[in-house]
Amino acid sequence: MATNRTFTMLKPDAVSNGYIGGILKMINDAGFRIVAMKYTKLAAETAGAFYEVHKERPFYGELVSYMSSGPIVAVILEKENAIADFRTLIGATDPTKADAGTIRKIYAKSISANAVHGSDSDENAQIEGDFFFSKLERF
Ligand code: RTP
Ligand code: MG
Repeated sequence: MATNRTFTMLKPDAVSNGYIGGILKMINDAGFRIVAMKYTKLAAETAGAFYEVHKERPFYGELVSYMSSGPIVAVILEKENAIADFRTLIGATDPTKADAGTIRKIYAKSISANAVHGSDSDENAQIEGDFFFSKLERF
């Protein structure tokens, strides 16, 4: 059954470039409600576990070291059709291929430092949200 929640991270490049406010404004303006939010920094082992699904991909090492290079903002979001609508809002993985007006087109500089993460399925949104948040941290 489809749920109405997705999970996002504002990645280290978005945080260090001062884009937290701008990105959260775009997310709010697009109609997403914040269910849970946390400002934190991933240890390399934690980032490796989060991206376990990409372990065999050639960019895994780079991804893990990048995602543990600075603080991130982890967020659970709620909206009807959350997964698909959020992927539309963030745009393509490679910001040079992202549509105009998308978060990655506006705020991302490269495919590896691409400003935001967005869950790709209801199942992964649940897993990823559970990775960061307890029941007591969701409202
Ligand atoms: P995300 O999971 O972060 O929302 O990104 P995505 O679904 O659009 O892309 P995915 O294929 O899941 O890849 C996860 C992250 O790995 C980095 N990546 N680097 N150097 C490369 O060729 C490459 N390809 C992917 C990106 O940071 C991507 O967001
Ligand atoms: Mg992905």
